[in-house]
Amino acid sequence: MSEPVPDDVVQALAATASRRGCFGEPLYFFTETPSTNDVAATLADRGAPEGATVFAWSQTAGRGRFGRTWFSPPGAGLYVSIVCRNGTAAPYVTLAGGVAVADAIRSATGLPVHIKWPNDVVVEGAAPARRRKLAGILAEASSGRDGLQYVILGFGINLRPAAYPPELSDRATSIEAELGRRADGAAVLAETLARFAEWVVQLSRGESRGLLSRWRELAPSAHGAAVEWDAPHGVVSGVSAGLADDGALLVRVQNRIERIISGELRWK
Ligand code: BTN
Repeated sequence: MSEPVPDDVVQALAATASRRGCFGEPLYFFTETPSTNDVAATLADRGAPEGATVFAWSQTAGRGRFGRTWFSPPGAGLYVSIVCRNGTAAPYVTLAGGVAVADAIRSATGLPVHIKWPNDVVVEGAAPARRRKLAGILAEASSGRDGLQYVILGFGINLRPAAYPPELSDRATSIEAELGRRADGAAVLAETLARFAEWVVQLSRGESRGLLSRWRELAPSAHGAAVEWDAPHGVVSGVSAGLADDGALLVRVQNRIERIISGELRWK
């Protein structure tokens, strides 16, 4: 079924073994697969443990938020999904994934990425319209009669430049395009798993303050940025006013505060 894990990934995982706990164990590698989230869900349905991880070099049916396609050509990115079974950490899995990916890119490559709510990992431009995305997070939960069974945390990281489709070309970028040099994808993967594991340890003790505080540091646009969204009665405009403790984005609209839980915002 899966293929031998590439040597550079084996080495990078060994270097982070003491920090990763169960994350990345076992690791299933595919040169190409339809969607790592789907493979991880199938494995979870068959009993795969917390931390089991699926990693691919390309996806033929990569999925993004709102049912969009996640562009996943060969040689351009890291496509990864993790089985998460810890019920206490579950409400924060998406935030923890975004923070882990952003901090892993920062520490493994030196690129000063930020987070844009809810969990896009971006490089800032001279203006919000010039901001470009280089990683995204998709968490998908499965529940049964006894409640939550597992969450699959999927993340896609653009490592190398690619021929993005026209609708993405002015909004997407990659780590190497921004750095202007090669980056170590195996190190980014291993560091992401280690950082995610560290957050899950804290969350499973009921401690979410550290995660929320790191998310806020990484997301300057969560404060004071002009945003708008489509509501049933028309377009609503406001100014971002921080992250609530449950992950909602607060937006000041005239003299009231709205809570944005999901949906799509436009950043002006
Ligand atoms: C987004 O829209 O920003 C989320 C993108 C998530 C893409 C990743 S790539 C690995 C995993 N498998 C998928 O099919 N999607 C996620």
